[in-house]
Amino acid sequence: MDKLFIFDTTLRDGEQVPGCQLNTVEKIQVAKALEGLGVDVIEAGFPISSPGDFNSVVEISKAVTWPTICALTRGVEKDIEVAAEALKYAKNKRIHTGIGTSDYHIRYKFNSNQEEILQRAVAAVKYAKRYVEDVEFYAEDAGRTDNEYLARVVEAVIKAGATVVNIPDTTGYCLPVDYAAKIKYLFEHVNGIQNAIISTHCHNDLGMATANTLAGVMNGARQVEVTINGIGERAGNTSLEEIAMILKSHKELLIDTNINTQKITPMSRMISSLMNMPVQPNKAIVGRNAFAHSSGIHQDGVLKNRESYEIIDPKDVGLDENSIVLTARSGRAALKHRLSVLGVDVKDNERLDEIYQEFLKLADRKKDINDNDILMLAGKERLEKQ
Ligand code: KIV
Ligand code: ZN
Repeated sequence: MDKLFIFDTTLRDGEQVPGCQLNTVEKIQVAKALEGLGVDVIEAGFPISSPGDFNSVVEISKAVTWPTICALTRGVEKDIEVAAEALKYAKNKRIHTGIGTSDYHIRYKFNSNQEEILQRAVAAVKYAKRYVEDVEFYAEDAGRTDNEYLARVVEAVIKAGATVVNIPDTTGYCLPVDYAAKIKYLFEHVNGIQNAIISTHCHNDLGMATANTLAGVMNGARQVEVTINGIGERAGNTSLEEIAMILKSHKELLIDTNINTQKITPMSRMISSLMNMPVQPNKAIVGRNAFAHSSGIHQDGVLKNRESYEIIDPKDVGLDENSIVLTARSGRAALKHRLSVLGVDVKDNERLDEIYQEFLKLADRKKDINDNDILMLAGKERLEKQ
């Protein structure tokens, strides 16, 4: 199995989302939970951006033991100095510096040219190397950067000492086939690429963040930048839980992470509640309905053998069991199962049918059928049991 490094940016790319701001105490709580989850790198913040962010990076560095603590900077000396100061107490520290490399960034953001940007990239890495050994370089908007120029930048920053090179699809524009080709191109054209880890950092503007990240991994990237619940700028970043569970479900890829997947659900709930950011019910892995079976055909299949409609054991992500949701589409098998979970055994099929007909009438009227409703329908059997 090849190891894939998990770089979590919930506290940086995720936390910069309006409304998701956390105070230092909450950030420490999240960082410790991420450590327990098994992430390799925690991007703790962007220290020059505010005194609060600076302080959080300092406190997280003190509180966390084994993951690398990473601080973001622009490719600017002052940013790098402040990041190095914020990382003072980290046991394992990394500076994440970089610059935009697409024509959009070079022309409009920097009013510059490719050669000058390449030199600034190299200078930023060399400057960061004065403070820390582990320097990650990001080529912002690499997704829309010409591959030939990108390869020159990547080669130059690795030569300057970058230990990790991040290829962000900043705008979430790439198709998986194009992102895959980009990573492959780098592996085929960059001298010295074996001296650094190539990292993915994909945004979800077109709903392709996870697919692009996986495409990068399948072409040699060995670090992925992800967030819990996929939170992040605009439509968000690649979600940690999706990548972790894809690799756990597809062992044939021979790539493993250090993630303790049973901690995924509590971690997701912690982020959702601290950041006041509900998770969409049908979100893969952590949505309320991700393991809920509501149609009669599916419920019957799952009750006979869960693998007929479940590719992940809910226990693997820290849930006690799947949920058989009773709706007007449910069948007798699901109703009987729920009754028996509630301690009511209905042995007679005619009686089950009677309860089922009453259940259908109620389910047509009421959206959510709860356990009390079911017990009320089975009133007679319940009394007999008592
Ligand atoms: O999306 C992006 O390009 C970023 C960089 C700062 C790494 O978040
Ligand atoms: Zn980003």
